[in-house]
Amino acid sequence: MSEAKVVAEIKSDWPANTTRPDCAVISLEGVCREYAGRGDVVRALEDATFSIVAGEWVAITGPSGSGKSTLVNMLGCLDRPTRGELKIDNVDVASMSSTELDRFRAEKIGFIFQQFHLIPYLSAVENVMLAQYFHSMTDEKEAKAALDRVGLGHRTGHLPSELSGGEQQRVCIARALINNPPILLADEPTGNLDAANQAIVADLLKDLHRNGHTVVMVTHDPEMATLAQRRIALSHGKVFCHPVGGPIVTLRR
Ligand SMILES: Nc1ncnc2c1ncn2[C@@H]1O[C@H](COP(=O)(O)OP(=O)(O)O)[C@@H](O)[C@H]1O
Ligand SMILES: [Mg+2]
Repeated sequence: MSEAKVVAEIKSDWPANTTRPDCAVISLEGVCREYAGRGDVVRALEDATFSIVAGEWVAITGPSGSGKSTLVNMLGCLDRPTRGELKIDNVDVASMSSTELDRFRAEKIGFIFQQFHLIPYLSAVENVMLAQYFHSMTDEKEAKAALDRVGLGHRTGHLPSELSGGEQQRVCIARALINNPPILLADEPTGNLDAANQAIVADLLKDLHRNGHTVVMVTHDPEMATLAQRRIALSHGKVFCHPVGGPIVTLRR
């Protein structure tokens, strides 16, 4: 299938209000990540070559130790490939200094973590404002509006310890979307949640995807994986791509 056909097929499934351009927002060419030290070299990711198109929702699956976190850390510019080329929004991450990469990450990527990683002594709204601070400037009204969007408009002054796991995850989502990044990376976003909260988080991710965000989500949960348009499965550091529901998408080579 040609590249143009792939884009056309995905676009036909896009909702009308999608605003992102129809180009690859993430592309990897022969990406490897090795960890050296303590004797043997560990090959956590081997020769990964694939693209993710703007506006796509991709699930990354695979057993523990297969390289999911290694891959997501690189997609989030928290780590760099040992070899190969990684482009985010058409920019080769290898060409950027650490400072440039920090700036780039703040602009382009929102993170949603299984363990939430909220600052325990800051309230919900302050946690969201911290992400604004690292991006540009704080705006409490906007931060409260983001919490309202995830159904927490009435809990803005509460500390993480005063919120349930599901509520903390929603603060994490508000923090991820506050700077309107085109890409959302979610690492097991429902891993610590009960069924009711899983449904709330799934609905929020659906909403964000509908609004044009590219969503890359690591998940062990087959139900969550079926929400994605495509599955990228990892096994021993090797990448296998599968279509899941929605449009059939093949790798761009
Ligand atoms: N900092 C590190 N140093 C050495 N090996 C590592 C390091 N981080 C991860 N690994 C190894 O890389 C492989 C992939 O790990 P990881 O990406 O965390 O897998 P997953 O997220 O799928 O569980 C595993 O064999 C793991 O032990
Ligand atoms: Mg992991």
